[in-house]
Amino acid sequence: MTDTAGVARHVNGERLWRRLMELARFGATAKGGVSRLALTEEEVAARAQLVSWGAAIGLEPSVDPASNLFLRLTGTDPGLPPLLIGSHTDSQPTGGKFDGAYGVVAALEALEAIKASGQKHRRAIELVAWMNEEGSRFAPGMMGSAVFTGVRRLDEIRPLKDKAGISVGDALDQLLAREAHLPRRALGFKAAGFVEAHIEQGITLQNERLTIGVVTGIQGKRTFRIEVEGEESHAGTSARADRKDALVSAVAIVDALQKAMWDKEDTVRFTIGMFTVTPNAPSVVPGRVVFSVDLRHGDPDTVKRLGDAIPGICEAARGACAVQVRELLYDVPLQFPKSMRDLISETAQRLKLSHRELPSPAGHDSRYLHYVCPTGMIFIPCKDGISHNEAEDITPSDATAGARVLADVALALANADSPND
Ligand code: GLV
Ligand code: MN
Ligand code: MN
Repeated sequence: MTDTAGVARHVNGERLWRRLMELARFGATAKGGVSRLALTEEEVAARAQLVSWGAAIGLEPSVDPASNLFLRLTGTDPGLPPLLIGSHTDSQPTGGKFDGAYGVVAALEALEAIKASGQKHRRAIELVAWMNEEGSRFAPGMMGSAVFTGVRRLDEIRPLKDKAGISVGDALDQLLAREAHLPRRALGFKAAGFVEAHIEQGITLQNERLTIGVVTGIQGKRTFRIEVEGEESHAGTSARADRKDALVSAVAIVDALQKAMWDKEDTVRFTIGMFTVTPNAPSVVPGRVVFSVDLRHGDPDTVKRLGDAIPGICEAARGACAVQVRELLYDVPLQFPKSMRDLISETAQRLKLSHRELPSPAGHDSRYLHYVCPTGMIFIPCKDGISHNEAEDITPSDATAGARVLADVALALANADSPND
């Protein structure tokens, strides 16, 4: 019989914290955060560190054509689909030490604890680090999990470029060449389930002095790329009436969008996080502006209504310039299965950890895994709800608690039947 409480006992909080701090050295910023963009040298180095930690525990590494990285703890029945646990190693350009990294390092700790406990598990349990969750270098994010689950095709994402003009395909080939010594895995194999531990990135758990969040689901999200095309001209000679100033049009569009997305309840999440002006020279009337829109809401009808309104709002406010609106991503709100939520709640309860159910306003790879296998998420508190910020912080004791729940849940699922068997 499986003694799950025995597994949680083997979670070593000091080791977990030490690894979190060591991983944070790859791409460390002067302000104590992390800049580890997807498919960069910093990420290659962080992944090598994970593989090396895994090797010391006896985990078998493999990498798929989308550069999703797996570290496998073999089970007693090799014919069964594995259980996946993990998150992502990439960060925002001025990100924190824990977004993504926590879920990956907690998964490693869970695997080490399960191995040390000597408990048998039928299916393999694999740590996974998904490629490009953040989407800040290459948009949209969650590319690795999207390709793994068939939401996107690899040939569809390979041509997408970063600001420097480097394509996903080229960056991927370079990373895979650096990891040529690792066994290759087919893309999109069957998984029995996926469990992701993550920092909350909000303030609910801290405010309520709770340790574990049992995630009910993820709010809907649509992202757009908006391109305003004007004409470059001389700042000293061109009259206002003759100008096609892309910045003037873009500002009018942004203002119109802000007004249209405003809601009294403050539940609509509308962000323009990227804004580039070309040629960005003091004495040239801007010829081109490209900016991003990130729109989120928990209600599917609101996500649809507001997102559908965006092209018309841009067109009405464009003035003398042309505008093109491209939708990059449309993810509807979702709910994780009750069986998974109950297992996480019951585990937290048994481990005497305070907990509650709560939704995730942030996006996660768990979204796409949820489309193909039973999926659940475990949140731990995040200081003052600060995330996507170098000041992001958590406590060692919360980090340990989340890993204990993860280890227990993973062992239980590795011995349970799955609809994918
Ligand atoms: C993920 O980082 C998100 O933007 O929600
Ligand atoms: Mn994340
Ligand atoms: Mn993030």
